[in-house]
Amino acid sequence: MAQPTSRQLVLIKVTLFLAALVPLAWLVLDGVQGRLSPNPVEAITHRTGDWILNFLMLTLSVTPLRKISGWHWLLRLRRMLGLFAFFYACLHFTTYIWLDQFFAMSEVWKDIAKRPYITVGFSAFVMLIPLALTSTNSMVKRLGAQRWRKLHRLVYVIAVFGVLHYLWLVKSDIRLPLAYGVVLITLLVLRVPSINQRITGLQRA
Ligand code: HEM
Repeated sequence: MAQPTSRQLVLIKVTLFLAALVPLAWLVLDGVQGRLSPNPVEAITHRTGDWILNFLMLTLSVTPLRKISGWHWLLRLRRMLGLFAFFYACLHFTTYIWLDQFFAMSEVWKDIAKRPYITVGFSAFVMLIPLALTSTNSMVKRLGAQRWRKLHRLVYVIAVFGVLHYLWLVKSDIRLPLAYGVVLITLLVLRVPSINQRITGLQRA
């Protein structure tokens, strides 16, 4: 699709918005029907955790995909994808402090300080907050494009921390966190200036 009309773009955005809510709807449905495994809190934590990473990877895929395909309108979907990563991160964190720790904040702080995978996950969550807060057009204007872009490069650090958090917490089968790691490394390599320029050149040729 070279360039969708503004009506088509609205349709694409609405479809994406609804699709991004499907994992939550599925989770709620499974919860209501008692299909969330014997440990529902763990199941909620795991599923929301998976979806943070999925949305982070999708967000990071937008620029390379746009360059390879020449579909520049994909950029218009990036903010929504990033905000859904934040949305699932809020659900994930809320599940942890509410359903796992019952708002025992002293225990939460102890956990953050003592368990490295929680420290890393929490740091990633904290870094997501300024990105979500500055995601609006008015904030891009207020910060200036260059400063905004610099700040939003944090998303790579967040994704690295997210993958580390996952790698750290799994006890035996590390295949899935490793798969996320491989996807992330590929996306990071595509950002290397010389490779990035080659992709842009390929697309122009
Ligand atoms: C951007 C930030 C984060 C990402 C990307 C993330 C991602 C994940 C992923 C992928 C999982 C495992 C899912 C699975 O096994 O299928 C997970 C589990 C978990 N996360 Fe996070 N997480 C983040 C932030 C946090 C924060 C802030 C906390 C708490 C302070 C947290 C606590 C946990 C816990 C307790 C588990 C389950 C561990 C277990 O069952 O042994 N995460 N997270």
